[in-house]
Amino acid sequence: MKISVIGCGYLGAVHAACMAQLGHDVVGVDVDAGKVAALAAGRAPFYEPGLPELLAEAGATGRLTFTTDVAAAADAEVHFVCVGTPQRADSYAADLTYVDAAFRALLPHVAPDAVVVGKSTVPVGTAGRLADELAAARPGASLVWNPEFLREGFAVQDTLHPDRLVYGVPDDARERAVALLDQVYATPIAEGTPRLVTDRATAELVKVAANSFLATKISFINAMAELCEVAGGDVTQLADAIGLDERIGRRFLNAGLGFGGGCLPKDIRAFMARAEELHADPAVSFLREVDSINLRRRERMVDLTVGVLDGRPLAGARIAVLGAAFKPDSDDVRDSPALDVAERLHARSARVVVTDPQAVANARRKAPHLRYADTVEEAVDGVDAVLVLTEWREYRELDPGKLFGLVAAPRVVDGRNALDADAWRDAGWSYRALGRP
Ligand code: UDX
Repeated sequence: MKISVIGCGYLGAVHAACMAQLGHDVVGVDVDAGKVAALAAGRAPFYEPGLPELLAEAGATGRLTFTTDVAAAADAEVHFVCVGTPQRADSYAADLTYVDAAFRALLPHVAPDAVVVGKSTVPVGTAGRLADELAAARPGASLVWNPEFLREGFAVQDTLHPDRLVYGVPDDARERAVALLDQVYATPIAEGTPRLVTDRATAELVKVAANSFLATKISFINAMAELCEVAGGDVTQLADAIGLDERIGRRFLNAGLGFGGGCLPKDIRAFMARAEELHADPAVSFLREVDSINLRRRERMVDLTVGVLDGRPLAGARIAVLGAAFKPDSDDVRDSPALDVAERLHARSARVVVTDPQAVANARRKAPHLRYADTVEEAVDGVDAVLVLTEWREYRELDPGKLFGLVAAPRVVDGRNALDADAWRDAGWSYRALGRP
């Protein structure tokens, strides 16, 4: 099929490459000439495992091109809108500027019988509004909402082999829209991926509901961590024990610094804002608590750091922060808990050095006032405490014996409950973590 992908960020670049991999003819469109040049040359403009290989493979077939010219989308049968919906600067609501701009730029190039497919995470009701605009400009075309559930770090795998496909379709073009999307996703459907056909509002809600549930699960276990801290319990054992109940499940019960990134925090806030507009705010007011619990973890991390310094003032203390990305296998620092803690410590005059396997360049752009190191060894050299704030595999597998000789004082704070506490203590370190004795 001929497909266009409008917006080539974390979502769109992966989607475009995966659609080409599934055998389609794809043009990716973005307003950022630098991003387009990198993608056209087969380079991923951000760190995502598997994406460079996919760009090379799909690029070699000649089925994947990138351009800044939206007119190149004109002969596509299906247009995917994959632009970002960040939080607005002045409120909790989603900023729809990019969605609206992408949609309006695309509109004159939509063929009379084409299908426009929204993938961006939007406030419920957005699809209906865009559908009205499309109907007025192109009466035969239809608009479908097909939310994306990919996780950064697993984006290629999640796009090629999704857990489920959700098509939010209009009543009047239901069969045609479903048939077209079934053709797009023929390979994952043949692999047995469940596919649900809903109305557009439900499809929009599925995405925010899923992310709200995941955020709630993380904040639930972090609330239990707060109780463990005052009552002397161990939240990691508690999570293992409740997680064995199949109805609960162990995934997304990792207590620690909490959630960040470009999705969960802004999606729960946008959901609250949209519910308020719909006069349904009580239905999701619990998300306010989910957000507060999550943000409290960051300040608690600062307190824990003060606590391990044995009375030495935080001001002037040398602290190594291992991790800047919001989670491992990503270079994304949007709303990163790790970088936020580093900034809070810096604001209290600690001498902070941050390192990360992939995210230093992005972190430096966002927080240029912090000091950065390229390696763990360099970061921990002569420090009073080491904070592990993003659980990269290479940090989980650090050899505490080797690091012991480099630091001024062997104190480690595990912000992600990711280290082997006994191994660090056996190597002579004082080990502290969130939610554990
Ligand atoms: C999320 C959703 O998982 C995905 O389905 C959606 O499409 C986009 O938003 P992503 O932002 O890539 O994906 O990250 P995710 O793996 O969900 O992690 C979010 C945050 O929660 C990270 O900061 C992570 O460190 C944190 N987290 C996750 C925890 O603190 N504990 C956990 O148990 C799991």
